[in-house]
Amino acid sequence: MFPTPPDASALDPEALAGLLRWYADMGVDIAVEGAPRDRFADALADSVKPTAPQALASLPARAEASAAPPTPRAMPGVPPPAIGAALAVSTATRSARELAASAHTLDELRATLAAFDGCALKRTASQLVFADGTPGARVMLVGEAPGGDEDKIGRPFVGAAGQLLDRMLAAIALDRADVYIANVVPWRPPGNRTPTPQETAVCLPFILRQIELANPEFLVCLGAASMQTLLGVKEGITRARGSWHEFVVGDGAKTIPALATLHPAYLLRSPGAKRGAWADLRALRKALDGLEKPVARPVNS
Ligand code: URA
Repeated sequence: MFPTPPDASALDPEALAGLLRWYADMGVDIAVEGAPRDRFADALADSVKPTAPQALASLPARAEASAAPPTPRAMPGVPPPAIGAALAVSTATRSARELAASAHTLDELRATLAAFDGCALKRTASQLVFADGTPGARVMLVGEAPGGDEDKIGRPFVGAAGQLLDRMLAAIALDRADVYIANVVPWRPPGNRTPTPQETAVCLPFILRQIELANPEFLVCLGAASMQTLLGVKEGITRARGSWHEFVVGDGAKTIPALATLHPAYLLRSPGAKRGAWADLRALRKALDGLEKPVARPVNS
C-alpha cells in the first residue's frame, strides 16, 4: 500500500515540486484518477466473482467511482483469493484465445483487442498500442510492452529506444515501412514496470495471432521478455542473442526463423553491447538477402 500522500494544498511550491519529483522517481508519472486507489484490493474483490468466459470479452470497464471494495470472505463453492485470481487469469486467457482466433484480419484483431477487458493494464494505459510499419512486411519485430511515449502516441517504439531502433534498421538498409513492429503486451504497464506473468499470459494469444496474420518471413524478438515469451528460450538474452530459432506459426502448419537480439532500451543503457546487436543485424541482412540460411538452434542448447 502507498502511504497516504501529504495534503498538497498545504505545501509550498518548492516542497510540491519535490513531492512530484519523488512520485516520478517512484514510477508514478501519470495521474490516472483524482484519489489513490488500492488495486490489490480490487484484484482480490474481482477474484471472488465468478465470471462467465464469454462475459469477460464484453465486460465494461469497472465503475471507477465504486465504494470501498468488499472484503473477500470465504464462501461455499467460491475459491479462496489466490486460487480465484489464478482462475480469473486462466478464464481471461481462454477468452483471449477464442477472441484472437476469431479475428481474420489485422484490423479485426486490433478491434477485438481494443474491446477486450481481460487485461487490467488497459485501465491504466491511455490507449492500445497495436502496431507500426507495414503489415505483410518480410520482417516482424516484437518488443516487450509500450513505454510512456508509445502510450501517448499509440505506436510502438517511438521513444528514445525506438529512435535507436530506427538507426539500427537503417544500418541494414531497412526503415519502418520495410518492417512490421508490435509488442507482446499492447498496453503500457504503469511506471513502465515489467508486465507480470499473468498480464503476459492474457495478452499472449493476441500477439501470436498478430504474428500469424502479419505473416512475416522472419521474426525478430527484441529483448529477453519477447524471446522468452515467444520462443520459450529460458536463458538470458546476453547469452541467447544472435541465435536463430524456429517459431511455430498458428496451429503449427508452418515455422519461420526467429532471431533473438538485444532490446534497444538495453543498448541505450549499455552502449558497449551494440557490437553484439550489430552482429545480429548483419545476420538478419544476410538471411534477407538469401546469403545465409538461418540455422535454428534447439531451445536451451
Ligand atoms: N520498449 C518496448 O518493448 N516496446 C516499445 O514499444 C517501446 C519500448
